[in-house]
Amino acid sequence: MTTRKIVFSGIQPTGDFHIGNYIGAVKRWVAEQDLYDNIFCIVDLHAITLYQDPNVLRGKIRQAAAVLLACGIDPQKSLLFVQSHVPAHAELAWILNCVTPIGWLERMTQYKDKSAKLESVSTGLLDYPVLMAADILLYQADCVPVGEDQKQHIELTRDVAQRFNTLYGETFVLPEGTIPKVGARIMGFDDPTVKMSKSIASDQKHHAVGLLDSPDQVWAVLKRATTDSGKEIVFSNEPGKAGVNNLLTVYQVLTGQTQTEIEKHFQGKLYGQLKREVADVIIETLKPIQERYNALMQDPNALDGILQRAAEQAATRAAPTLRKAKLNVGFVV
Ligand code: AMP
Ligand code: TRP
Repeated sequence: MTTRKIVFSGIQPTGDFHIGNYIGAVKRWVAEQDLYDNIFCIVDLHAITLYQDPNVLRGKIRQAAAVLLACGIDPQKSLLFVQSHVPAHAELAWILNCVTPIGWLERMTQYKDKSAKLESVSTGLLDYPVLMAADILLYQADCVPVGEDQKQHIELTRDVAQRFNTLYGETFVLPEGTIPKVGARIMGFDDPTVKMSKSIASDQKHHAVGLLDSPDQVWAVLKRATTDSGKEIVFSNEPGKAGVNNLLTVYQVLTGQTQTEIEKHFQGKLYGQLKREVADVIIETLKPIQERYNALMQDPNALDGILQRAAEQAATRAAPTLRKAKLNVGFVV
């Protein structure tokens, strides 16, 4: 019997999930559900590393669960749970804190970017990658499917695991980050020089398409998408073509067509046509997701039940690794 690889990934219940989250992460989680032993986590402990309004956060956690289920995460095939429901994450994070040099955390680019914008930086924000390492290592995950922005955090996870294993004996599997070949970094529609992000999307109306946006909202964003002063509709890494390239990338991932097919399809067409067609494939992708989302939100008790059951299973799965880590550092367990 071959055992299936363990996949772990997480998503923060902050802001609204956008098409970049879907393309870089969630779409793959769903597509590969049958291949692996899957564990997906709504990381609320990570969310509060930046202040969140408590009532908004509570709503966003349920919304995140419903959106992920609506995207096709199947509770029969995958564990989908909320991080704070499983105390082992915070417990292991503490133990890992004690083997992680501060310098490793201060070097993280995401920390540098986020902290540069703040007057007061929480310890949690600096410690964020250690908690992420705990998430992954608790389940002895082999693969971590994420977008490009998380690559450095996965490398840190491996370093922390390796250091722990060296100091205290073999305890953790070293995970691999799996970054998609296409769509690992969807850029803002308003500004294709910056990564599409939930925080920018909450301030800039035309930055992103949210997974719950109506067809009119999708078109309002796409209509204004930044392109360039040329007219060639081709895939290109040239900075000047970043807007067109981003639109084509979204189209490629959502239609599953090859780059050659797509370039042929758009040959001789105008940017306006490209924007309309990209909007249409997004609208088509979102329609069934939104229908399922609306149905799931009708019954919050059922949703909470799914999360509760999954948390119990996750806790059971996390327990042996946490115990081993405690034993190996010398605790009386
Ligand atoms: P976050 O929004 O930071 O919770 O990210 C959730 C998942 O979506 C992670 O795997 C990210 O790497 C991925 N992701 C976030 N933004 C993008 C983007 N603009 N393009 C591709 N993947 C993304
Ligand atoms: N830091 C990730 C993000 O913002 C979310 C996350 C938390 C995560 N724990 C994880 C992703 C573990 C993969 C594995 O996207």
